[in-house]
Amino acid sequence: MTREQEYRGGENFDLREMMLRGRHMRLAERTEVFGAFLADLQENQEMLHLRCVTSAADREVEVIDPVTGQTRPMLMFGSNNYLGLATHPHLLVRAQEALVHYGAGVGGPPLLNGYTALHRELEQRLARVKGADDALIFSSGYAANVGLVTGLMQKTDLVFYDAYSHASFCDGIKMAGVPAQQFAHNDLAQLHRMLEANKGRETGDTYVAVEGVYSMDGDLAPLDKLSDLCRAYGAILVVDDAHGTGVLGANGGGTAEHFGVEENIPITMGTFSKTFAVTGGFVAGPKPVIDYLRFFARAYMFSASLSPVSIATVLAALDVIEQEPERLWHLRQNVQYAAARLRQLGFDVHPEAAIIPLRVPEGMDIRLASRLFHEQGIFVNSIEYPAVPIAQQRFRISIMATHTGRDIDRLVDVVGRVWATCRTTSQQDTDAREHLHAA
Ligand SMILES: Cc1ncc(COP(=O)(O)O)c(C=O)c1O
Repeated sequence: MTREQEYRGGENFDLREMMLRGRHMRLAERTEVFGAFLADLQENQEMLHLRCVTSAADREVEVIDPVTGQTRPMLMFGSNNYLGLATHPHLLVRAQEALVHYGAGVGGPPLLNGYTALHRELEQRLARVKGADDALIFSSGYAANVGLVTGLMQKTDLVFYDAYSHASFCDGIKMAGVPAQQFAHNDLAQLHRMLEANKGRETGDTYVAVEGVYSMDGDLAPLDKLSDLCRAYGAILVVDDAHGTGVLGANGGGTAEHFGVEENIPITMGTFSKTFAVTGGFVAGPKPVIDYLRFFARAYMFSASLSPVSIATVLAALDVIEQEPERLWHLRQNVQYAAARLRQLGFDVHPEAAIIPLRVPEGMDIRLASRLFHEQGIFVNSIEYPAVPIAQQRFRISIMATHTGRDIDRLVDVVGRVWATCRTTSQQDTDAREHLHAA
């Protein structure tokens, strides 16, 4: 029995149930139950969140092992630093120059004192990358989505959004109080029916929100078909291209460039926390919309600007994407090589961007698998229940341009061994349980 079950008097009680029941608990009780859950994870050596990294963000990192307390090297397959730019010399030089010239930070929001010439330069550059008139910069991708939704959308509007949309977009919807309906992931037929059913509304605008590259599965939204559909119904298409920018398209412009529809995407959101390797976010679109957002997106107005160091780093990353197209090529080669090797193991993976999801079969213990990956020195992120339904649990492999063929071989080798061990173990568990029931 786990301590969390013990605490609840031995009931079969999982984290999801705890969250539901927690609504009726006082804070002290909620935190105590959750504390017991965390202690259980630690006791079983399954607490692999918050692993402390002590080196630069690279293809190999140094991590403090939560079990032994010792520092050890691990191959990084869990970072969104897709082009490996976090340690690129050009980015480091530009960041240092900005630090010396502008100081450590700006000490205020953009509408007051926090708007430097570098911020303006980056806005204009991002607008060019996205084929838009203008852009504005937020302190994170999360803030960009919340600011975009709460700044533009209102109660008289209607939003149709993909069921796999990121939490930041969903939180924006809740905060804005805008009527919103989900359509099944990438189900354009359902979206079409929803647009048809709501056609001819007298008031408000209709928005359709998708991600260029979906963050969990790495699959793409068909922006060519979506932009046609939205145009036909007069709906405003909003694309979160967090994982597409700097990864897709001949020039790394993103998912719209990949589909050749840059001109047809009215509003694009992006982050600096993936390919650009720092933090921050942006929205690009028509100038009147961007001007309006500067005064109506509270996440922009009431939040301090990013430091010039981050801004200079993103500008330098854009230079590298332009000047070293071979990085994109390496990334794509690595993704295709990893996918081909994983298919040899029987995984049905056909990645189009830099994310490869490994679905965990029902009955396989994802926490045991995580521990084995960790023990084998492979850093991957597990997406576990209750964050997703049991049937959708997965490991999310992120490929970088700087991974070597040997890194990928090592990853695939470990995946094969982890799967073999966990499947055997889960089969033994099932056998043992059946035996117990039969006895
Ligand atoms: C699709 C998507 N949108 C938005 C965000 C939020 O971006 P950030 O982490 O830069 O705040 C993320 C981050 O994981 C994301 O995956």
